[in-house]
Amino acid sequence: MSRITSIEQYHQEYKRSIDHPEEFWAEQAEQFVWKKKWDRVLDWNFIDPKINWYIGGKLNITENCLDRHLPARADQIAYYWEPNDPAEKAVQFTYKQLHEQVCKFANVLKKNGAKKGDRICIYMPMVPELVIALLACARIGAIHSVVFGGFSASALSSRIQDSDCKIVIATDGAYRAAKDIPMKELVDEALEVCPSVSKVIVLERTQTKIKMVAGRDVFWNDEMKKVNSDCAAEPMDAEDMLFILYTSGSTGKPKGVVHTCGGYMVYTHYTFENVFQYRDNEVFWCTADIGWITGHSYCVYAPLLAGATSVIFEGVPTYPDASRFWQVIDKYKVNIFYTAPTAIRALEAAGLNFVNPYQLDSLRVLGSVGEPINEEAWNWYNKNIGKEKCPIVDTWWQTETGGMMISPIAGVTLTKPGFATLPLPGIQPVLVDEKGNEIFGNGVEGNLCIKFPWPSIIRSTYGDHERCKQNYFVTYPGLYFTGDGCRRDENGYYRITGRVDDVMNVSGHRIGTAEVESAINMHADIVESAVVAYPHDIKGQGIYAFVICTKKNKDKDALRKEILAEVTKVIGSIAKPDKIQIVSGLPKTRSGKIMRRILRKVAEGELTNLGDTSTLLDPAVVDEIKAGAL
Ligand code: PRX
Repeated sequence: MSRITSIEQYHQEYKRSIDHPEEFWAEQAEQFVWKKKWDRVLDWNFIDPKINWYIGGKLNITENCLDRHLPARADQIAYYWEPNDPAEKAVQFTYKQLHEQVCKFANVLKKNGAKKGDRICIYMPMVPELVIALLACARIGAIHSVVFGGFSASALSSRIQDSDCKIVIATDGAYRAAKDIPMKELVDEALEVCPSVSKVIVLERTQTKIKMVAGRDVFWNDEMKKVNSDCAAEPMDAEDMLFILYTSGSTGKPKGVVHTCGGYMVYTHYTFENVFQYRDNEVFWCTADIGWITGHSYCVYAPLLAGATSVIFEGVPTYPDASRFWQVIDKYKVNIFYTAPTAIRALEAAGLNFVNPYQLDSLRVLGSVGEPINEEAWNWYNKNIGKEKCPIVDTWWQTETGGMMISPIAGVTLTKPGFATLPLPGIQPVLVDEKGNEIFGNGVEGNLCIKFPWPSIIRSTYGDHERCKQNYFVTYPGLYFTGDGCRRDENGYYRITGRVDDVMNVSGHRIGTAEVESAINMHADIVESAVVAYPHDIKGQGIYAFVICTKKNKDKDALRKEILAEVTKVIGSIAKPDKIQIVSGLPKTRSGKIMRRILRKVAEGELTNLGDTSTLLDPAVVDEIKAGAL
């Protein structure tokens, strides 16, 4: 694999990756163990989307994550696990131990009926067994679908149903800050409507009292005692599914983004090594939850492919107090730290008294991901955490892209606060106007599209390929549309300005306005609702809901509480609106379309300049909404 060490080399490699993509990506794939080498590197079509990489190649990603490293790294730490409560004993796993656990759990899965191609749902907090569960699925060729532990029973069941999962792997409970969350109870509730599930494997984490369903539920520890650690890695086609991960779009229910084995392996590894400039024996810490793509790619697969040592963390940045991140960095001498702007802003707000007692002198590279980072947060991170010595890589990418797409290369690319800077090799961004015309040159702004495939691009949306086509490939024919707006400055640097569709980014969590609206509308007294995002100091975006209630005399506070409970029940507490305004009507055009532009302005506190309202069916509604703005 080629490693970029200077900006001149970046430009050369970039050019080579565009002029000769197949040669370039073949080279990046050479170092891996392939059970059979590919016949052709790439076959693609963005019109009726069909993208194949490393065609005919056979591999198993876990052999490349684990077995391949054993001769040199058997006793190297693969993971330091830091528990939620700092008083609890931390645990570590060497590559050899991790390999053994993965093989054993893979045998547990087989014993419980899992076969290649089966879908397995994983619903767990950030415990080491979560990593083991993912890799065990991949070992036997089962497709994992991790559902973030913060989602509700109802959100869990719809994800299990969508991909017909056969097995669920869960914990009894989860510790999150001072809370104890009854995960198994949520699983039981979800499974009332999931007939496809025949087994539940339960890891005991909190020793909470749980109900075990005879014939269906088994304990992780009991099962592990019954198996040995010999488990040959299943040969997988490069284009066989590796995993499904659900993410929100602007319409309908969350969709299952499909990633496949070969391309995902090559691309996540390439970006990890280059963007972070990972050096042997360094300690890497990505704070993301494995329930999201950042955790899949940069807590699990990429660091293991690189033979790195990582930290995984069960807790939250502010528990027991806002010094936790800095304490953990000193404890494990973390060299590369990768987190989200929302965490940086929250810790900045907590004040420097939480930072100053810590050395933070092991740090070499800082990363940011998940949402636009504002200049102030960037500068604070740079000054107080990186001590102005650590390059900050602001990495732009998405669930659908599998790996980082536009990002500085640490120490190579000159950074600029708020800018993801330049496309990584192989990535061809284009900006287009509303009509899809490419906007050339610098100092311009438009909708961000990518015009050529990279190895870890989304292959499909599970069970509904047409949806994948409609979502990403139809808006601008011949291009992959990201859903993001973007500016390219005078120097050709990219700055992501945020979503241009109805997707919100709340504390780095991607949530569709339609999803929240449909959850609110489940409330018996609500006839209609409209949800928009507004700028929020810590969360990046907050959720503002306008709701119409059928009962005119209903107590407003009681109604708000009930709505919050409804959203928590249908989606999870991450989607709770920050503001709920009760209105008697919504601004609609004569054709019945809600004018969200107006609602967005109201939510932003911009009440004077609402733009043209002449096409509204009932302009008086706007005055009422303005008068009641929160
Ligand atoms: O709007 C962009 C924003 O997050 C969206 C993707 O969300 P998700 O699929 O959940 O993946 C997040 C982690 C990769 C994007 O469409 N986003 C992500 N990274 C950045 C960003 N916006 C600005 N700057 C970033 N670095």
